[in-house]
Amino acid sequence: MKAGFLKYQAQTSPYPLALEISHAKGSYIFDTNNKSYLDFVAGVSACTLGHSHPKVVNAIKNQADKYLHVMVYGEYAQQPAVELCKFIATHLPDPLESTYLVNSGTEAIEGALKLARRVTGRSQIIAAHNAYHGNTMGSLSLMDFEERKAPFRPLLPDISHITFNYEPHFKHITSKTAAVIVETIQGGAGFIEPKVNYLAKLKAKCEAVGALLILDEIQPGIGRTGKLFGFQNYNVIPDIVVTGKGLGGGLPIGAFTASKAHMDLLQDSPKLGHITTFGGNPLIAASALATLQEVVTSDLMAEALKKEQLIKKHLKHPLITEIRGRGLMLAAITTSAEVTNQVILESQNQGLILFWLLFEPKAIRITPPLTISNEEIIKGCGIIIDLLNKISDTK
Ligand SMILES: Cc1ncc(COP(=O)(O)O)c(C=O)c1O
Repeated sequence: MKAGFLKYQAQTSPYPLALEISHAKGSYIFDTNNKSYLDFVAGVSACTLGHSHPKVVNAIKNQADKYLHVMVYGEYAQQPAVELCKFIATHLPDPLESTYLVNSGTEAIEGALKLARRVTGRSQIIAAHNAYHGNTMGSLSLMDFEERKAPFRPLLPDISHITFNYEPHFKHITSKTAAVIVETIQGGAGFIEPKVNYLAKLKAKCEAVGALLILDEIQPGIGRTGKLFGFQNYNVIPDIVVTGKGLGGGLPIGAFTASKAHMDLLQDSPKLGHITTFGGNPLIAASALATLQEVVTSDLMAEALKKEQLIKKHLKHPLITEIRGRGLMLAAITTSAEVTNQVILESQNQGLILFWLLFEPKAIRITPPLTISNEEIIKGCGIIIDLLNKISDTK
């Protein structure tokens, strides 16, 4: 399988991990030799309820028995998508009521950018340094890493950057600004939380100049930080909230949500202001709805905060300088990128899945399924500590 993977399936990394997957269940992934791997990554924060959660699988199977795809987005009323959008509206504060479902996080970001331009009639978008919002042309334009952007230019014009958590940069937000977009918790940058009241002050500044605040909840959303949406930890209500990843319960999805008045603007001038064939797909919507229902009716959100403490307790080591993030969106920062690389690469041999963050080479990503048990957490942390001990011994 590996040879076919490398030959026929396009890669954008020269060194893919190339684990040959057989199946996955709960907190474990199994390879084709039936070796088990405890999953501390959850498909990069996507498998909220672990692998093949029975409620999610049943919802998908039930829907599959009824129908799959029938029509492009928004033409027919389909129960899974309607129920999903209603659920999201019910659990978001006013005026966030109307949701547009798409196929991925980056497409949801594109939709949010278009909506902000349509609402304000302005073009400037301000994003944060070290932010990651996806890899299609618009989302890529928001990134401030020239090395990653240069080969693909020209990208979107009129994008500028501010430093996350740095209020003096608010002066760059003016009456020319359509929107400011930030991740509620910066992901690729190293799981950096907003300072107290930073997001509320950012929203106030946006409001003062008539710009919109877009919060990218694609990674912090869906219970991972102890609240259904990460921003609910920080006393702020955005104009547009963007979700993805963990919303789908393991299937591909993206969504942007705004007030009905704003969202309705995509209906004219031009009409069909955003269109997509598969957005709101009933199988995916059924999976997302089952995931959300389980997250809000179980103790998983409260437990995410307890599990954070458990991880912090069991990940104490001289080679770990800091643990950043909140809930089950954590990054263990080691003393060097070399240490981090060794731990991540060797952990796979030890039956533990870890991964990197995009822009913080010293970070070990710890984003397990919310359903991970305390025993599994202790076991995984033990493997990391053993690896760090070995590295210390060889230094
Ligand atoms: C904060 C954030 N925004 C946007 C995206 C893009 O989502 P997708 O990969 O589904 O396009 C990601 C993916 O890692 C992300 O972490």
